[in-house]
Amino acid sequence: MSGVRSILCVCLGNICRSPLAEGILRREAANRGLDLTIDSAGTGGWHVGELPDPRARTEGAARGCDMSMCARQVQPDDFERFDLILAMDQSNVRELLRVPGARPEKIRMMRSFDPTARWSDEVPDPYYGDESHFTEVAEMIERAVEGLLDSIEEK
Ligand code: 4NP
Repeated sequence: MSGVRSILCVCLGNICRSPLAEGILRREAANRGLDLTIDSAGTGGWHVGELPDPRARTEGAARGCDMSMCARQVQPDDFERFDLILAMDQSNVRELLRVPGARPEKIRMMRSFDPTARWSDEVPDPYYGDESHFTEVAEMIERAVEGLLDSIEEK
């Protein structure tokens, strides 16, 4: 991952998992002094323009993250603008592959960087869960972000 300079985090609605991933990635990249372009988007458009879900904002703020981003939908030119596109689950991967001009080689599962996960593990959708699901999701993302940034920093 040493050539990666721009990362897009993707989930379904862009109001729960991918904004948390964006916030945690931004915080950790800043802590490590890494100059990375970081953004997030959803494969669906239902929540475009909205702030993250209040439960995601609470969880992210408690972890020292800026959670003031607005939801947007994945666009075809995201595959040109970003070196790495991180999907939270397998259905996100399937939807990303349907985007015109999709570059499959840029797509990876977020948890493929979590050392405690098997390669196939997902960041599950917490939308219909409670606050404890958001905490679990954030913990998975924290581990994956550490693993990802370690691999980007490897010479
Ligand atoms: P996210 O969660 O993909 O982690 O942002 C969801 C948010 C909204 C919906 C589904 C999942 N929804 O159906 O509106």
